[in-house]
Amino acid sequence: MDVTTDFVRLLHVDDNPAITELTATYLEREDERISVTTATGAEAALDILATDEIDCVVSDYNMPGLNGIEFLEAVRREYPDLLFILFTGRGSEEIASEAISAGVSDYLQKGGGTDKYALLANRVGNAVQKRRNERARERDQAIITEATDAILVVGADATVQYATPSTEAVMGRAAADLRGTDASELIVPADRPRVMAEFAALVADPGGHRTVEFRHDRPDGTRIWIETRGRNLLDREPVDGIVIYGRDVTDRKERETELRRQSRIIEQAPIGITCSDPSREDNPLVYANAAFEALTGYEFEEIVGRNCRFLQGERTDPASVAAMRDAIDAREPITVDVWNYRKDGTEFWNQVTISPIEDDDGDITQFVGFQQSLPAETGDDQKSTRRDDDVD
Ligand SMILES: Cc1cc2nc3c(=O)[nH]c(=O)nc-3n(C[C@H](O)[C@H](O)[C@H](O)COP(=O)(O)O)c2cc1C
Repeated sequence: MDVTTDFVRLLHVDDNPAITELTATYLEREDERISVTTATGAEAALDILATDEIDCVVSDYNMPGLNGIEFLEAVRREYPDLLFILFTGRGSEEIASEAISAGVSDYLQKGGGTDKYALLANRVGNAVQKRRNERARERDQAIITEATDAILVVGADATVQYATPSTEAVMGRAAADLRGTDASELIVPADRPRVMAEFAALVADPGGHRTVEFRHDRPDGTRIWIETRGRNLLDREPVDGIVIYGRDVTDRKERETELRRQSRIIEQAPIGITCSDPSREDNPLVYANAAFEALTGYEFEEIVGRNCRFLQGERTDPASVAAMRDAIDAREPITVDVWNYRKDGTEFWNQVTISPIEDDDGDITQFVGFQQSLPAETGDDQKSTRRDDDVD
């Protein structure tokens, strides 16, 4: 059943075609959301149910072939949840109780006059709406129960009021064991003051949210990183609490730590390290480390966006420049010693290694350059030195 629309597809079953037609007309007039399909017997109705999407069956009791109760039993075998209203002129206690034990959803006596259609339309509308609401609730519940994030609802004092079953997978603690405990104890002591300060700010901010990361010691002894997003719904019934969504971000944290470690190595390396982007016009530098700034006297902002030839000058040997150009064009590594110039105009004998860097697909996405100043005397009697043999 489609819970997003309030359109009701009704199957009306009565052996008298004049009655099905009349009922269809009245019902559709009574409630424009109702669309009626008709069948003049149980067998034809079962065929329709096999092919069409039907929200509700309204059936007469007294019919040749299968009677209303037998039809209901046949429907229940295939469609245990389908709404089924028995709408009969022959009202008796006995039929009503049989219908109930066969799983009827509602039972209505036809009575005289046209009021009965208004009543029927009303009952159908209510029953379908109620069923749709139930389905929506079941769906919401299933989404929460099956969530991979841990979801906690805690009070303003951080006492756990509710926890989803997924807390067990994330934190290794059963939801039932968490209820009534102090949520702050899920945070390792070193992180607690920082997180609880955020929590206090969230408690003071109705409707607001905060994201915070902390470490958690699972009962099995493993320490994980949890990212939590809290939402203040203290004023929102029936939640009346702070809702906290938490997920294990240990892998991401470990990657971040590793990346920070690597970038510190590059940043603090004792030789100049630069990086260029060959996909951009004139292969400009996009990164330079602190040693490169110290070596050349230029600031980071003055370096990025420019081709590294800005270091060259009068004494730079055109043959070395050509060698670098050819190597870059050929996507090959090269090492050369060249005269370069600092920002203050002083020259230095620079040993430059340029190497292409491949991505996972084998495409060259950047060039890395290493710069190291050599004693000037070694360069004094040479215009440049080609050191291709130093590189594998
Ligand atoms: C990552 C990278 C670093 C470079 N570092 C230097 C350098 O320190 N000194 C230098 O003279 N040229 C350096 N070059 C070479 C120049 O940027 C340029 O490629 C060279 O001058 C040849 O090209 P051109 O003939 O267009 O100038 C570097 C190139 C790249 C890609």
